[in-house]
Amino acid sequence: MKKVLITGGIGQIGSYLVDRMQDDHQVTVLDNLSSGKKPELSENVSFIKEDIRSSVAKELAADNDIIIHTAAQISVARSMDEPVFDADNNVFGTLNLLEGARAGNIEKFVYISSAAVYGNPEYLPIDEKHPQNPMSPYGASKLCGEKYCSMYHKAYGLPAVSIRPFNIYSPRQDPTNPYSGVITKFIDRVKDGLSPVIFGDGSNTRDFVSAHDVVNMILLLTRGKGENGEVYNVGTGLTIRIDELARMIIDIFGSDVDIIYDKPMPGDIKHSSACISKARDMGFEPEVDLYRGLEEIIAK
Ligand SMILES: NC(=O)c1ccc[n+]([C@@H]2O[C@H](COP(=O)([O-])OP(=O)(O)OC[C@H]3O[C@@H](n4cnc5c(N)ncnc54)[C@H](O)[C@@H]3O)[C@@H](O)[C@H]2O)c1
Repeated sequence: MKKVLITGGIGQIGSYLVDRMQDDHQVTVLDNLSSGKKPELSENVSFIKEDIRSSVAKELAADNDIIIHTAAQISVARSMDEPVFDADNNVFGTLNLLEGARAGNIEKFVYISSAAVYGNPEYLPIDEKHPQNPMSPYGASKLCGEKYCSMYHKAYGLPAVSIRPFNIYSPRQDPTNPYSGVITKFIDRVKDGLSPVIFGDGSNTRDFVSAHDVVNMILLLTRGKGENGEVYNVGTGLTIRIDELARMIIDIFGSDVDIIYDKPMPGDIKHSSACISKARDMGFEPEVDLYRGLEEIIAK
């Protein structure tokens, strides 16, 4: 069985990866538990409570066939307050793992970047060639991680590849995460019989992609699809208005609450939409329809 190291394996994406890989891989999870979640893993998964910046992490990266690097400081808000903390985790943590991987004989290094690398869209839908002008330290640190991955591929021949997911959602999303928490926030309010609050007129759009689809994309890459040194958008290729999202959630609950409209948030990106042609060309096809994905969260 191939040995796979999943950093951040207690988190949203990491835990779904563990579920999907544990039967036919020798899985090691490395997570410092900074998200506060409890490790609930089956016996055939090794768990190491360590930081990605540690020497243990570096040694593990050298000792596995596949490394899937999901661990990160993921809060845009926190990155604005503590840019050095953000870079320390996301840049030096990634570099430490790449250095470990370089010393080993790995088959694949998959890095989870983010659509935050693009900043304010200059055109839509956003393809991978779109200028990358991050508007937060988080976006800058994720971009830096990607650049290291492609540089390690070019300079050292490391089989590294990056993905840029758009807004990920799933029942395992951290409800305290202010990054893409609009779905969780709407659900929390409507569940309690309260109106969802929209900042702005509701016409903002986003590409919400299910964590299951992001995991499908990562698995394709671990099975040899895609090109090393490259970066791939991961989204649905569809956009939804924020007011439509709110109405879907109200509908699933069978509620009759109205939507409350508040002042737009300063700096909020108006529209975001992913071009996923490059991912489609390598065999990716999003499977989870948003309504069904929302039902899964609400049924949890
Ligand atoms: N959530 C989104 O909408 C979104 C969108 C695009 C990209 N991403 C990226 O996807 C990846 C996974 O996100 P997620 O939603 O699963 O996040 P998550 O917060 O659910 O999981 C991240 C995990 O990493 C661990 N971790 C954080 N810092 C660590 C460190 N220094 N050492 C070891 N472990 C550490 C945390 O304890 C947590 O379990 C991240 O790299 C994030 O930047 C997320």
